[in-house]
Amino acid sequence: MSQAMKIAIVDDERDMRQSISQWLALSGFDTETFPCAEDALKALNADYPGIIVSDIKMPGMDGMQFLKKIKGVDSSIPVIMITGHGDVPMAVEAMRIGAFDFLEKPFNPDRMTDLAKRATQARRLTLDSRALRRELSDGGALMKKLVGTSPSMERLREDILDIGQADGHVLIEGETGTGKTLVAHALHAVGARANKKFVLIACSALDEDTLGRRLFGPAREDEPIPAIEEARGGTVVLEDIEALSPTMQARLLTAINEQGQPAETRIVAICNLQEQDKTCESVLRPDLFYRLGAMRINVPPLRQRGEDVLLMFTSLSEQFAEEYGCDAPQVTAQEAAQLLQAPWPGNIRQLINVAERAVLQNRRGTGTIASLLMSESDDTARPAMTTEGKPLKEFVEAFERMLIDNTMRRHKGSIVAVMEELCLPRRTLNEKMAKYALQRSDYL
Ligand SMILES: Nc1ncnc2c1ncn2[C@@H]1O[C@H](COP(=O)(O)OP(=O)(O)OP(=O)(O)O)[C@@H](O)[C@H]1O
Ligand SMILES: [Mg+2]
Repeated sequence: MSQAMKIAIVDDERDMRQSISQWLALSGFDTETFPCAEDALKALNADYPGIIVSDIKMPGMDGMQFLKKIKGVDSSIPVIMITGHGDVPMAVEAMRIGAFDFLEKPFNPDRMTDLAKRATQARRLTLDSRALRRELSDGGALMKKLVGTSPSMERLREDILDIGQADGHVLIEGETGTGKTLVAHALHAVGARANKKFVLIACSALDEDTLGRRLFGPAREDEPIPAIEEARGGTVVLEDIEALSPTMQARLLTAINEQGQPAETRIVAICNLQEQDKTCESVLRPDLFYRLGAMRINVPPLRQRGEDVLLMFTSLSEQFAEEYGCDAPQVTAQEAAQLLQAPWPGNIRQLINVAERAVLQNRRGTGTIASLLMSESDDTARPAMTTEGKPLKEFVEAFERMLIDNTMRRHKGSIVAVMEELCLPRRTLNEKMAKYALQRSDYL
């Protein structure tokens, strides 16, 4: 979100509100002024893209009442209160009600700018995460984020829809960067729990005590209520479930058993195992594994998604090209083959990275996709090139599609030019385009 943050200035004294406004405007803020709290309230709503600076002593509704009203509109709008000189009890009371901070008159303008900066930053974070949550809770939008038409992706989509509608805990397994977290969001968003809470906890990021309190409580005063309670009716996602100690596994099992059937809080456990010889089953105690794994989703590695690699590379490099204001790289036939054969140990996250760097290279006019793949691949883990389990036919088809797609693009949809370059009769070209769902109108 790049929208400028606003600052609403509320003061009954005209000179005062104007000088505050001028000062903050000079510091680059977008200000608006109100002579009384009543007027300001009319302009505020829960998504107000900014913060409020208000005097405390005002005729009519005073600053304290105003503050309480604002907290009712949106408890997270930062409000900076201006108190009279030496009015400590007022300031304390304002902070207790939830003011962001206070400024004592006569105030230091630099401190005002500084506070305004911090408050607008906090506001921006709140609004951004809200927007993200809204986007994420829109199941349709999320499913669209899952790019790919390979059979393994189609299966994954069906799994998400089926399991999303069902109740019961879920175990998601897959290599790093395959989209496990995205799948967990989608699972929540497509089901009946979509409008309930979604709480995500990275088990490996918290020490045992903190994790215990976060999951089961009792929470300290400054901590959110325990996740399993917080997400009642909704979903708790436990990332890196393999990091749970035996003690925590036992506590989780107890918590699950206490919930009864069907569980009020759905637990979606994500297992991220890098070592080839370990499985989720081998690191979790059997009874917990059995409980969590009532439904299982396997997110396939990129190298098992066939042509999706090319599809995603093209769409990602187009996105990056737009972002950087340059052209997307044209993928040569040879490069397409390299993309299809690369082992992709970092999966989609790696593909995103390669696409971005390919666009940047293209802008500079240097480098090749092959060199990016080489520098990216961890050649100790797997051989650099692999045809692992992929039938030749799949390769050849993916390759053919890519080639026609690229040539059509280069010739802006001129069938004749493409026929000539690829030495194909018109009829064959038409058949192949139909087979690969390529449409001439997309290239014009
Ligand atoms: N099918 C997909 N289509 C498009 N983008 C995807 C797809 N799957 C994942 N992504 C994107 O790839 C990136 C990695 O996904 P995500 O973080 O969900 O992976 P992960 O398996 O949870 O990784 P980690 O093991 O590191 O936790 C994200 O930016 C995500 O939006
Ligand atoms: Mg993840």
